[in-house]
Amino acid sequence: MRILSGIQPSGPLHIGNYLGAIRQYVALQDANDAYYFVADYHALTSVRDASLLRKYVSHVLIDLLALGLDPDEVVLFVQSDVPETVELSWLLTTVTPMGWLEKCVSYKDKVQQGLPAEAGLFAYPVLQAADILLYDADLVPVGQDQKQHLEITRDVAERFNHVYGRREGVFRLPKPYILDNVAVVPGLDGRKMSKSYNNTIEIFEDPASIRKKVKKFVTDSLPVEAPKDPDTCPLFGLYKLFAKPADREEIERRYREGGVGYGEVKTRLGEALIETFAEARERRAEWVAHPERVAAVRAAGAEKARETARKVLHRARAACGLG
Ligand code: TYM
Repeated sequence: MRILSGIQPSGPLHIGNYLGAIRQYVALQDANDAYYFVADYHALTSVRDASLLRKYVSHVLIDLLALGLDPDEVVLFVQSDVPETVELSWLLTTVTPMGWLEKCVSYKDKVQQGLPAEAGLFAYPVLQAADILLYDADLVPVGQDQKQHLEITRDVAERFNHVYGRREGVFRLPKPYILDNVAVVPGLDGRKMSKSYNNTIEIFEDPASIRKKVKKFVTDSLPVEAPKDPDTCPLFGLYKLFAKPADREEIERRYREGGVGYGEVKTRLGEALIETFAEARERRAEWVAHPERVAAVRAAGAEKARETARKVLHRARAACGLG
């Protein structure tokens, strides 16, 4: 099965990215034909400093490798190393009704948060459709916030197939792969963890900073002895995703019976996070020390990705009468 997914290099990766997406990238890499990329064209809608963008791109590549992507198993590449993406995006734009983009919540959200209402931001989902369709992806591992973009991708693919009258279809229709328990990972304020809400815990923050940050997790003010509901407590919601099963069960029981304080859960969460990423932290240091290896992975990924992309783009161009 062809797996594909992308991450924007718009800042350091956080544990929502890890649980919602990257962990699935790793789990799917061995048994499938997987393509993962750093979505730098997309990041242009929010990062407007060239050297910062370059830095973020290389950090995301390094972080993905450190977190367990095996460059011998997957095609790991940078979106803009495959300029075919932008051409396909244009072909798709010409068949995409404005109304489909107008109803996109991510566009409305971003404008509400203060990003300028630019055409690139508006057409963001079409570029994402191009990313996915260009590689004949079957399955796209993502968090819940990308579900609508996947729906638009399928709609655009079907519309293109319909407009250009190909019964056999130019594009393969992809499906999202969203795991229920990590579809929306909560941030420090209980809302979805997101760079734009400033409520993230970064994967590779140093341990002292992780310990400090988890203390900021917003909770209610119930005292230690009061029974609490683990099902509605965002702090427990995050803790349970990292805790060992026995620890999780113990804390869950003490939530229900009373006798657990939020301070204790925060401390445990911090330690669980530090432990979870300890090995990746070491691997990361290795990659950081060898930028030439990262560059080689990037170049090899670009070559393989382009090979696939060229074939699909050729199909799409031929279908609509170009060339
Ligand atoms: P991005 O860069 O915002 O996020 C990368 C991945 O992390 C997931 N994610 C979360 N999952 C659960 N809980 C959270 N709090 C959380 N925060 C982030 C996202 O759902 C995503 O899977 N538009 C995409 C990038 C993209 C893409 C693509 C993805 C571009 N082209 C093609 C898939 C296929 C984005 O901005 O993700």
